[in-house]
This record gives sequence, C-alpha cells and structure tokens, in this order.
Amino acid sequence: MSITVTPSGQACGAEVRGVDLTQPLSEEQITEIKQAWSEHHVLVFPDQDLSDDDLESFTRYFGNLDDDPFFRPIEGRRYIAAIHRYANETTPIFAESWHADWSFKEQPPIGTCLMGVKIPPEGGDTLFANQHLAYKNMPDELKAKIDDLIAIHSAKLAYSPEGLYGNPDPDARSGMKPIISDEAYKTQSHPLVMTHPENGQKAIYGCIGYTLGIEGMSQEDAAELLMELHQWQTSEGNVYRHKWQENMLIMWDNRSVLHAATGGFEGHERLLHRTTIWPQ
Ligand SMILES: [Fe+2]
Repeated sequence: MSITVTPSGQACGAEVRGVDLTQPLSEEQITEIKQAWSEHHVLVFPDQDLSDDDLESFTRYFGNLDDDPFFRPIEGRRYIAAIHRYANETTPIFAESWHADWSFKEQPPIGTCLMGVKIPPEGGDTLFANQHLAYKNMPDELKAKIDDLIAIHSAKLAYSPEGLYGNPDPDARSGMKPIISDEAYKTQSHPLVMTHPENGQKAIYGCIGYTLGIEGMSQEDAAELLMELHQWQTSEGNVYRHKWQENMLIMWDNRSVLHAATGGFEGHERLLHRTTIWPQ
C-alpha cells in the first residue's frame, strides 16, 4: 500500500495522504484510490495544490469529463464549474438540499470532484449521507416495499424557469452561473434501490428535489413514501460532516452518498472548482 487511508470515524469518508496529485499516478496508486473510494465513498486529499489541468487529469483516471447540463463552466475551461459565493452575497445557499448530482440524466455521473480554492475560516461544511448505511438500517418491510420501485427524476424543481434557481432576484449578485432551460422538465427513471457495481452493496438512489414521483404510484403516495425515505436517508447516524481547507480535493461517489451544502460563512467569499466524473 503506497497511500495512507484514514477513515473519518463518521458514517463515511476517509483522508488520503502519501500521493502527489500534481504528478501522473501509477496503476498501483489508481487501484488503491479506487479501492478506498469504493469502501469509504468520500475521499479527502489535503494539501494538494492542483491547477485546473491537474484537476481534470485526476478526474480522468476515474471516468469521463463531459459538459455539465445546467451549469456554465468557468471562463476558458469546458469541464470545470465554480461553486462560488461572494462575501456580500445574500442569495440562498446553493445546493443546500440533499441530492446526488445530475441524477435526472440517463447515465448520471458516478462521482464528483471538488477542490477548495477560497475557503472561509468557518462554516460552509459539506454534508454526506451514506446511502448504503441508510438502506441497511431500514426495517425489512420498508426494504421489501422499495426494492423493485422505479423513481422518476427531473431537474424541474431546480433548473426550470419556475424552479429554485429559475427566477433569481435581479438585484442579487450571485457567484453561481446556472443555466435555466425547458430541458429541466425532462424526466428520467432509475431504480430506487441500486446495487453498487464496485462494492456490491445496495443503496437508495434519489432524493426529494430531483425525484418527482414513483412509477405506478399516485403522486400523493409517492410523496409520502419519499418523505419517509428521506428521514432514513439523512438520519444523523448516516452523515459525515466534511470540513474544508484550501488546497483540499475531495471526490465523492454519487451512487453511494447524497450530499448537501451548508452556510454559516456570511461575510466571506467561498470558491471551489468542480469536475464531474461521468461513466466511461
Ligand atoms: Fe451537488
């Protein structure tokens, strides 16, 4: 083992040291990182001074780079988006509700990389909820009820003209650059319970926000079930709270965890660069 993996001691997440991500990785290093990722679902690489080129090169070891559906990339790059909030910004915190990235795509991203560029002295933690653990801890009757259900995903509530980001306050200065479009009304079905292709464990896939309904179920029954599931999915025992540092890269597995942003850094700028790991 050439890398050092230290589990967070929480529901998921591990810190990885002993590798310089500005340099090309060996086959052995890639295999070890993949193994750790499959086991811990969120990997944290502190003290990595990555350029945007380095961030893209790292991402390519684990999947494809491709366009983000509802974000504009940063200037001069095609595959890097900014999670950016100005110090004096008063808009709602971006991505504060639990979700798996772009789950409404036919082939959603397997993971996401996020690099801390400007990190406030406090607040702005990212929360991760382990969906293998959520499934495992649910009562057997609830597992049996959801095992074969198909969930209907859509970006409508976030990126359509009537969605959360669709009608911004014209006076609010925002660091985020969402693309609002009728494309957001499209729907895509996925099994509500998925078996992870690498670790073989079942996980709940989906969340209130991007999951609009369940196939063959009334809207009312689906909403009630999704709300019940949400409690299991995000219960405190399933959560890892990630604290950021500058020059810290994290990568998470959208097939294993949900994530949510938090605020608490009013008066400070916060900037992270993000790439999305698409299936190959
Ligand atoms: Fe996200």
